[in-house]
Amino acid sequence: LTESRLYQSNDKSPLQIFVRAKKKINDIYGEIEEYVHETTTFINALHAEAEIVDKAERELFESYVYKVAAIREVLQRDHMKVAFFGRTSNGKSSVINAMLREKILPSGIGHTTNCFCQVEGSNGGEAYLMKEGSDEKLNVVNIKQLANALCQEKLCESSLVRIFWPRERCSLLRDDVVFVDSPGVDVSANLDDWIDNHCLNADVFVLVLNAESTMTRAEKQFFHTVSQKLSKPNIFILNNRWDASANEPECQESVKSQHTERCIDFLTKELKVSNEKEAAERVFFVSARETLQARIEEAKGNPPHMGAIAEGFQMRYFEFQDFERKFEECISQSAVKTKFQQHSSRGKSVSGDMKSMLDNIYERITIFRNLKQDQKNMLTERIQGTETQMMQVTREMKMKIHNMVEEVEEKVSKALNE
Ligand code: GTP
Ligand code: MG
Repeated sequence: LTESRLYQSNDKSPLQIFVRAKKKINDIYGEIEEYVHETTTFINALHAEAEIVDKAERELFESYVYKVAAIREVLQRDHMKVAFFGRTSNGKSSVINAMLREKILPSGIGHTTNCFCQVEGSNGGEAYLMKEGSDEKLNVVNIKQLANALCQEKLCESSLVRIFWPRERCSLLRDDVVFVDSPGVDVSANLDDWIDNHCLNADVFVLVLNAESTMTRAEKQFFHTVSQKLSKPNIFILNNRWDASANEPECQESVKSQHTERCIDFLTKELKVSNEKEAAERVFFVSARETLQARIEEAKGNPPHMGAIAEGFQMRYFEFQDFERKFEECISQSAVKTKFQQHSSRGKSVSGDMKSMLDNIYERITIFRNLKQDQKNMLTERIQGTETQMMQVTREMKMKIHNMVEEVEEKVSKALNE
């Protein structure tokens, strides 16, 4: 029952737009690959038998086989990527953990995340780590060990550790969402490298703010650079730690509207990445820590409010779910566009090129066949002519012999009479 419920909820998820599109484009590319293979075999045979195609053409066809195989490989690895940024301790790792429904990434007070951590789904129920520039799988038995392994690694802050976590443990990982966690934007001087190395292919960015304070210059500057390098990045803003506002209910609403206004202005007037309406749907007030606790309780079969930190849990929990829904819609649509649009136009151009080359070859074959037919016709005519000639000759000879025989007979009988 649980499995079928999971399946149903998963089926309705907006991420399915991406999942289905990925399957479809992979199937189409499978067909293109078959078509390219068949054509290449045919072309090679043509070359061997009649030399209608030359070496250069044959090589060009073979290059399509490699091209299509390379695109297929990229396609199989394509995923949706979301990257989280913000000041140290705002709760970036906690937000990711809440979305994964498990405390996978280390989180804590102080400067915790000291390099880029990418969480992605693994097949076969395996959990392991991979460091940048190495293929070695470092096995992780449990989350505690993972946290220790990450802390012990003396890594450069802009290097990347990939964490592979069993797909079946979380529907987002199963549907090919890849999470990128970063160190605080305030602790690095290499923001440009970060963007170049980890952000250019991100489909969605999440700015995790601390709702107890306000957006800092470092956070703003980082997103200014992102939006200069990428045209219209998709940015969501989470005002995290909103549970803290429960302690000061009298100013909760005014703080909320102040933050909302600043965030919307930042997206619309400063970065110019969204219009008012869209920006208003991209700003949320949440508590990552509380959401994670609630989900851990839910997994144990308890009601989610057992994870509540403060008054107003239900609203914050709904808002987190609302964020996830809007995020899923945005990331799957954006990834389909950016990733598959390019592949489908490349697929179209490969099959278009091959078609025009085949048309060209077909024309040559037709000319070649007509030539052969002409030669055949000429030969047939010649044979027919010879046959007639021979018949004529034969007839003439027959007549001659006949006449000769008659003449001889006449002469013989005349001679006998005489
Ligand atoms: P760095 O990796 O150091 O840059 O920090 P981070 O942004 O990843 O923050 P992290 O998730 O490690 O959270 C920092 C601390 O804040 C942890 O102790 C969390 O438990 C706590 N925290 C995170 N989100 C919330 C929240 O919504 N409410 C409260 N009360 N605490 C939170
Ligand atoms: Mg962190």
